[in-house]
Amino acid sequence: MSAAARATANGPAAASGTPPGVPRHVGIIMDGNGRWASARGLPRALGHKAGAEAARRIIESAGHAGVGWLTLFAFSSENWQRPAEEVRDLTALMRHYLATEVSRLIKEGVRLRVIGERERFGPELVRAITKAEAATAGGTRLNLNVALSYGGRAEIAAAAREIARRAAAGTLDPETVDETSFGGFLGTAGMPDPDLIIRTSGEKRISNFLLWQAAYAEFVFQDVLWPDYGPKELEAAFGDYARRERRFGARAA
Ligand code: IPE
Ligand code: IPE
Ligand code: MG
Repeated sequence: MSAAARATANGPAAASGTPPGVPRHVGIIMDGNGRWASARGLPRALGHKAGAEAARRIIESAGHAGVGWLTLFAFSSENWQRPAEEVRDLTALMRHYLATEVSRLIKEGVRLRVIGERERFGPELVRAITKAEAATAGGTRLNLNVALSYGGRAEIAAAAREIARRAAAGTLDPETVDETSFGGFLGTAGMPDPDLIIRTSGEKRISNFLLWQAAYAEFVFQDVLWPDYGPKELEAAFGDYARRERRFGARAA
């Protein structure tokens, strides 16, 4: 398939200015921080710190490559089951990055949004997140979603709950619920679906990431631990993506 045809297959991608062959929306399951630390005899917290540095590099590279939307899976609904100390370390890291990275995001034209159940992190982090979202709201170069306390099933259940609530209150006609309107009740309302989902660390599973939105995403699994991930690895994933033929259920060309 030619690059031009692929841009067409991406739908609005061409119109949005994404370069041909470059995914308009990339989701990344940033996995392998713990194994990276263990391999070096370091505490897991240092693996997470190195992972945050990798995230910073990739935000920059994705912006330069012309990606319009980047969703980073940083903490899943299920990650609350980890030892309290690790949850504490991860929360501290988020607080630190929110405090120190916002000016860089503004400079790079990055608009930050957090999806997931942010309330579970407590009022202090909620305030910091809301402030960072407001401060970066003018960014137009790259839309960055960070998925925190995020789970695809929880997100879909919350949407169903809200729809049921409105139907019971008589403000929503159940017959009007379709795929498009349902999507409007998700954390990703108004955003394009991911074209490419990358998972690092060698695991080949979705782990509850963007279940609804990933219906027609392409998947790339890379056998590299997240703290070692850089522009070269991102470029390789994009190269793989560019060779895929996306059909969306239609007959092969
Ligand atoms: C990903 O790295 C970060 C989070 C899930 C918070 P892990 O902490 O899962 O690292 P591994 O998979 O144990 O190596
Ligand atoms: C998925 O990684 C969640 C994030 C990367 C934030 P996990 O390490 O939690 O996933 P599993 O447990 O290997 O499926
Ligand atoms: Mg893991």
